[in-house]
Amino acid sequence: MSILSDLVPLASIDPAAVEHLLDLAFGADRHQRTAYSLRRGMAPIAELSFAALSDGELVGSIQCWPVELRTADGTCVPMVLMGPVAVHPDRQRQGIGRRLVAATLAKADASDSEPMVLIGDAVYYDRFFGFKASHTALWQLPGPVERDRLLARVQPGQALPRRAILGPRTCAVAEQAPSLVVPTSN
Ligand SMILES: CC(C)(COP(=O)(O)OP(=O)(O)OC[C@H]1O[C@@H](n2cnc3c(N)ncnc32)[C@H](O)[C@@H]1OP(=O)(O)O)[C@@H](O)C(=O)NCCC(=O)NCCS
Repeated sequence: MSILSDLVPLASIDPAAVEHLLDLAFGADRHQRTAYSLRRGMAPIAELSFAALSDGELVGSIQCWPVELRTADGTCVPMVLMGPVAVHPDRQRQGIGRRLVAATLAKADASDSEPMVLIGDAVYYDRFFGFKASHTALWQLPGPVERDRLLARVQPGQALPRRAILGPRTCAVAEQAPSLVVPTSN
């Protein structure tokens, strides 16, 4: 079996190769998913997006995007949308996905990044990384979502509104006021 080399910045990889990997992992119709509406018009966060290489071949990728929660009173809470996380079908269940997510979360935590949100399998993302659907039950999205797959990760000192609209990041830095938001009781 080939050896997994270090993770590298995703920006160093041919975008066409990344798109091909995503087609293999999610299917070519993946662009219709609500996750794509959430990040529409956004550029990926380069420092939180990685590729996994094995013998020089792309076998996994993770991307993160700037999004926001907007409450009824207009407060903007910036978040990071994590995903897609993709592992080549021939290389799944070998620890590559966990390594990609762990590296991204470690980088995010080290830089006091915003709370993370994703759409994915709770069994995987809660079990290994503490993402919970309980934070997101009353959030509105720009498309359909299975409620038990809308997962957020809240670190100590972070807070999220219980009711808000999740969408692409539009708020300016000066407008971001997460400390004004009442923490969820979950
Ligand atoms: C989901 C995915 C990212 C996981 O990465 P991976 O490298 O295959 O998995 P890992 O080796 O990191 O983790 C393996 C463990 O997670 C479990 N696991 C893997 N995928 C899972 C899933 N979708 N749901 C629940 N558990 C899962 C395995 O059973 C295994 O558990 P074990 O160690 O007790 O046997 C990868 O399989 C993938 O790309 N799948 C297709 C695309 C997708 O569904 N992405 C997630 C939505 S963003």
